[in-house]
Amino acid sequence: MKIVLDCDTGIDDAVAIAYALACPEAEILGIGSVLGNVESDLAAENTLKLLKVAGRTEVPVALGAHRPLVRPPGYAKFVHGEDGLGNTYMPPSGLSVSGEHAADQIIRLARQHPGEVTLVPVGRLTNLALALHKEPQLPSLVKGVVLMGGAATAPGNVGPVAEANIWGDPEAASVVFAAPWPITMVGLDVTMASLLLEKHLECWREADTPLTRWLLAVVDFYFEYYSASFGRRACAMHDSVAVGIALGLVMEQESHLLPVSVVTHDGPAMGQTVVDRRPLVTPGRYSAEGANTRVMMKIDGEAFIDHMVERIALYQVR
Ligand code: BDR
Ligand code: CA
Repeated sequence: MKIVLDCDTGIDDAVAIAYALACPEAEILGIGSVLGNVESDLAAENTLKLLKVAGRTEVPVALGAHRPLVRPPGYAKFVHGEDGLGNTYMPPSGLSVSGEHAADQIIRLARQHPGEVTLVPVGRLTNLALALHKEPQLPSLVKGVVLMGGAATAPGNVGPVAEANIWGDPEAASVVFAAPWPITMVGLDVTMASLLLEKHLECWREADTPLTRWLLAVVDFYFEYYSASFGRRACAMHDSVAVGIALGLVMEQESHLLPVSVVTHDGPAMGQTVVDRRPLVTPGRYSAEGANTRVMMKIDGEAFIDHMVERIALYQVR
């Protein structure tokens, strides 16, 4: 499967990229950067650091949006560390970004492989919104979008009902959900049930590869952050779930095709993905006709994380 990732790398982004690299099912055509967990240029450098460690420097990395469409920038360094990699300050990659904007990279790759590319954004949707603005035909050029973001019935993680990737650029998210392409929304409903546990860290310790050693160092800060909030030793692997679903490697248990809109006005609901679930309970009165978003409601998160961790453990650094 041809995929283009778009990341605010970030610790769970780094794990997701490592997982994609470890999956023979994935042909990674390019990776874009976007602000979010950290600044866009730092996110790009973090991606390059990971590609270096994994020996996959052939994957092009394109620098993307430095700010949301209309709102001021903000970051989540308290979750991911000042460097976005758990304050490990890993050695510089020594590599460069491609020179193309991440939005242009998306457009170019979609045109080169019409109907074949799945976009997998696991950060804010700014680059996708910019790409749609530049190339309104983009929806007919790609296979679809599998995004990490939003929440249908789960509580928010940056507000009562808002998830960080949507909240961080709700105007961009609104544009992306309104575009006529098939979207799979991989939100907190499923990612908060996909947890990395001590046993997984042990598996990576045993594997003891350059990649697992790097990830173990990086993941520590995030693991501590989440463990404190969960009250148990665990952290959520949000972004890997979107990659797994894009590649068809997740056991899906419940999903629905439903209309989704995004709250863009200020207030307690800002950034909410409003999933219209009325067609599920009163199908005679409400229809989901015309809906473009498959909302993931339930997966086997435990089995998926076991598989994801194992794939990374088995990855042979090139
Ligand atoms: C999402 O927000 C980002 O900080 C994470 O990397 C993930 O993509 C979780 O809400
Ligand atoms: Ca992310």
